Amino acid sequence: MSIAVFASGSGSNFEVLTEQSRKKWPEEVSLLICDQPDAGVLERAERLGVQAVTILPRHYENKAAYEKAILSCLQEQGIEWILLAGYMRLIGPTLLQAYPWRILNIHPSLLPAFQGKDAIEKALDYGVRWTGVSVHWVDEGMDTGPIIDQKPVLVEPGDDLHTLMKKVQFVEHHLYPNTMYKLLTGKISDSPRVRR
Ligand code: GRF
Repeated sequence: MSIAVFASGSGSNFEVLTEQSRKKWPEEVSLLICDQPDAGVLERAERLGVQAVTILPRHYENKAAYEKAILSCLQEQGIEWILLAGYMRLIGPTLLQAYPWRILNIHPSLLPAFQGKDAIEKALDYGVRWTGVSVHWVDEGMDTGPIIDQKPVLVEPGDDLHTLMKKVQFVEHHLYPNTMYKLLTGKISDSPRVRR
């Protein structure tokens, strides 16, 4: 059972997931899929010695063709789990059907609040006293899949985007690896809770 991380950005979550998988999990992160040729996560993968594959959507005629290319790469490597970590695209039917209830995402808010981009900024602008982090199953929607775990983050007077982002990231870097560890070791059920 191998694990792939999909990322588009800096990759701080990719890094902690990889490190924790090596220290603690029964399976390791063995592949990075990236859709941005200049993403910082590629340097992290090189430093950590994780195979990275950059697949650019613009080289494919549509989303299904793009995801088929990703799928053959995942299948070649025997990937069984996909962890989205700052991957800025919706997952389509090709990957969802190939990996039913095997794709997770981390989102920087207490879902269902502040779905989509700039969730930390939106929470700050709205003036919430608490925001947080959610790990959830991925479905075809934007941050809409069933929630697996969440942790709150206090918004303190004087917080700005930078300070709140740091607090949220600190929580992300613990919650995501811990949730995956619990799933892999059967400490939480891997069958999704169905919303009523
Ligand atoms: C994280 O805040 C994650 O919750 C969101 O995108 C950000 C990625 O950060 N989905 P990084 O690239 O892992 O540092």
